[in-house]
Amino acid sequence: MKKPVVFCAVNKLAVSEEMFSLLNEKTELIYLDKKVSNNELVDMIGDAEGLLMLGHRIDKRLLDAAPKLKAVSTLSVGFDSFDIEEMKRHGVVGLNTPDVLNDTVADLIVALMFGVGRRICELDNMVRQGQWKNRPFYMNFGHELSHKKLGIIGMGRIGETLARKVIAGFNMKVSYFNRTRKKAVEEELGVNYLTKDDLLKDSEYIVVIAPLTEETRGMIGKREFSLMRNDAIFINAGRGPVVDENALIEALQNKQIFGAGLDVFEKEPISEDHPLTKIPNIILLPHIGSITVECREAMARVAVQGLIDYLNGKTPANLIPFFKE
Ligand code: DGY
Repeated sequence: MKKPVVFCAVNKLAVSEEMFSLLNEKTELIYLDKKVSNNELVDMIGDAEGLLMLGHRIDKRLLDAAPKLKAVSTLSVGFDSFDIEEMKRHGVVGLNTPDVLNDTVADLIVALMFGVGRRICELDNMVRQGQWKNRPFYMNFGHELSHKKLGIIGMGRIGETLARKVIAGFNMKVSYFNRTRKKAVEEELGVNYLTKDDLLKDSEYIVVIAPLTEETRGMIGKREFSLMRNDAIFINAGRGPVVDENALIEALQNKQIFGAGLDVFEKEPISEDHPLTKIPNIILLPHIGSITVECREAMARVAVQGLIDYLNGKTPANLIPFFKE
């Protein structure tokens, strides 16, 4: 049987050895030994029927250049670089990697909450710079996690996992705001639904883990920061453009909030002289929510196996719901 042609637009190290071998075995693989740019992809996709990618724009330009394309599999749970309507018009489906990263991303969010609450990076830096001896302990006050109020904006699978962990581990009181209310989750976990404004006013920790859509773009801006408590700790681990970065910088500079932890940014990567790098109580991470050996292997397995299955006439579990008939 003829093998399907698959274009792998990411470095094989991002796919894992095992899954790269599987791709090689089961498909007619096109692979350039590097991460391919959007322009290169448009120029080279040609007759590929499947595409394995991460962060590439799947838009009209690419789809017009790929007349045989049937499926695009992203090595991520987020699929905001997909133009879903255009993909549907071209008869191309999208696959992602749900579930396998829930624990990993939720764990990193807890690390950010702790890190900012207890000022871990800021105070580590102070020690390295030899300033401990000049500094009374009361200048190092942080905030607890246990028994505090956490507001989660975006109650998807990662939000639920986070709620479960911090309720069990730290007795946190969890509220959430989401496009649709999750009554079953409220009952099971004892979490509380609040309007966005009430959540912002009430929460000591605020975690944004909403996907990027036209509805969520810029949903946390100047007005939203002005509603937050002065001791609020703000975490964004979803997508950068959900938060207005200038408004966040202003809120931190004016001490409107206590601190922030960011794994995502409006435009990634940020440069070393970005205004955020000048603010002390902020932790800046290079989008590592899912970046552990274990998680990336699991994500690669889901992305690669799903693509191979789809190209062989099966309906994989990781077909994005928008593409289900
Ligand atoms: C995802 O899977 O969408 C993550 O942001 C990638 O790290």
